[in-house]
Amino acid sequence: MHNTKGWVRDVFDRAAPSYGEHGCQYFNEFGKQLVVLAELNLGEKILDVATGKGAILSPASKVVGAMGTAVGIDLSPVMIEEARKRDPLSSTHLLVMDAEELSFPSHFFDVVFCGFALFFFPNLTIVFNEFKRVLKRGGRIAVSTFGKPSSLTQWVFNKTEQFGAHKLLKVQPLDSTHILNQVLSQAGFCRIHIQESTQFFWHSTPEEWWNSLWSHGIRSRLEQLAPVELAVLHRESLEHAKKAAHDGKVREEIHVIFGVAHQ
Ligand SMILES: C[S@@+](CC[C@H](N)C(=O)[O-])C[C@H]1O[C@@H](n2cnc3c(N)ncnc32)[C@H](O)[C@@H]1O
Repeated sequence: MHNTKGWVRDVFDRAAPSYGEHGCQYFNEFGKQLVVLAELNLGEKILDVATGKGAILSPASKVVGAMGTAVGIDLSPVMIEEARKRDPLSSTHLLVMDAEELSFPSHFFDVVFCGFALFFFPNLTIVFNEFKRVLKRGGRIAVSTFGKPSSLTQWVFNKTEQFGAHKLLKVQPLDSTHILNQVLSQAGFCRIHIQESTQFFWHSTPEEWWNSLWSHGIRSRLEQLAPVELAVLHRESLEHAKKAAHDGKVREEIHVIFGVAHQ
């Protein structure tokens, strides 16, 4: 396995138990919004690549209904296990699989989703070729990515860089409407619709915001620090978040970019 992919898998294996559980659960909210943008129909077959705990898969499966098919795949076995625990009675199918090697027949799905993961793929060309292969002719993709980091996240990035943590989990920036549009068009998708928005979410305490950092990809930055550096960052982060808090709550602005396109 590509080194970067092994690192991504291990980081999400460790993050999985708390992924989407702390504070502002924006992954679930953005998952629902992407499902709306994809304009799913009853009975359609959908694949959610890098499904995590099913933030997209779960609302999508409800729209396609029992006559449809909803499959989620993820590189992280722990994430898949956690997704099963979250929704044990669900009719969705959850599988451990790499986005670069989809073991599905060609021309099978109506829609391929991929939320907040394109930037982790070392080879986007291979991944998009796989998306196109498994899509029916005229099928569509619905993807999301992060734009500008929130001011809190940028503050953490600056601090961890000062400590010498420079290794990035993301291998592609994909952080502007222009870049996402260009990448989808170069991959051969057409009728591309890109939409961006900045939405506000609240963490109930500074500590909850700190805990949320461990529940997703940003933990890869924190894991690069020595224990003593981490203790300093923890203390400084809480002080920083307290100063910015409103009635003890911490507000975070999340800039998201959605893309829907046809094969
Ligand atoms: C930030 S999470 C997003 C999860 C979900 N789509 C959501 O919106 O909540 C990124 C996910 O991408 C998965 N991932 C990263 N590289 C992958 C790959 N090559 N194949 C499949 N999944 C991958 C990670 O394991 C992780 O669960």
